[in-house]
Amino acid sequence: MRILLATMNEGKLREYERLLADVPGLELETMASLPKPVNVVEDRDTFMGNAFKKATEIAAASRMACLADDSGLEVDALGGRPGVYSARYAGEGATDAENNAKLLGELLGTDARDRTARFQCVIALVDADGRRLAAAEGACEGRIGATPRGAQGFGYDPLFIPDGYEQTMAELGPETKNEISHRAKAAAKLVPLLQQLRNR
Ligand code: IMP
Repeated sequence: MRILLATMNEGKLREYERLLADVPGLELETMASLPKPVNVVEDRDTFMGNAFKKATEIAAASRMACLADDSGLEVDALGGRPGVYSARYAGEGATDAENNAKLLGELLGTDARDRTARFQCVIALVDADGRRLAAAEGACEGRIGATPRGAQGFGYDPLFIPDGYEQTMAELGPETKNEISHRAKAAAKLVPLLQQLRNR
């Protein structure tokens, strides 16, 4: 079972190879193997919408089954923002530091107990003809700290304190993150769906 992963990033390929290791015969490859790049505008207002949009457009361009994910941070005190705008919360091309600074600014004066949040991830799979085959969602619950802490990870990791921990995701590091993350949980739900598809 050959599936194109909607990313150019080798790191993401290795992460998914590990997360989906229980699917026998699964061969993942990145978009680096395509003759020309495919650009998808992520303009849907849900993670599910964006994940399927990416998977469908890339499957059409490549004529391969395609697996795409979309993820972001939902903060309860902000009505679920930044959500699908997580990457560009502080503006198009914003750095992680700028996004984190904006988030802290918006939460200024918000009590610790009201700073609940979650990382969300949706993974979508379509076949080479663009038919939707499977989708899986995962969430990692936590809260937003008062100041950035830790140097590992990316994005909002220095501000996100997962439930059950006192450290931020950026302090906990990849081993713990790979056990509790939104992506790991969504991938774990996808595994049995991929096994079923393989046995069809
Ligand atoms: P995408 O799904 O790669 O497009 O992620 C969108 C944005 O959500 C990223 O640019 C980050 O700002 C944020 N995000 C998603 N996953 C994580 C995570 O595991 N840690 C920190 N930030 C994340």
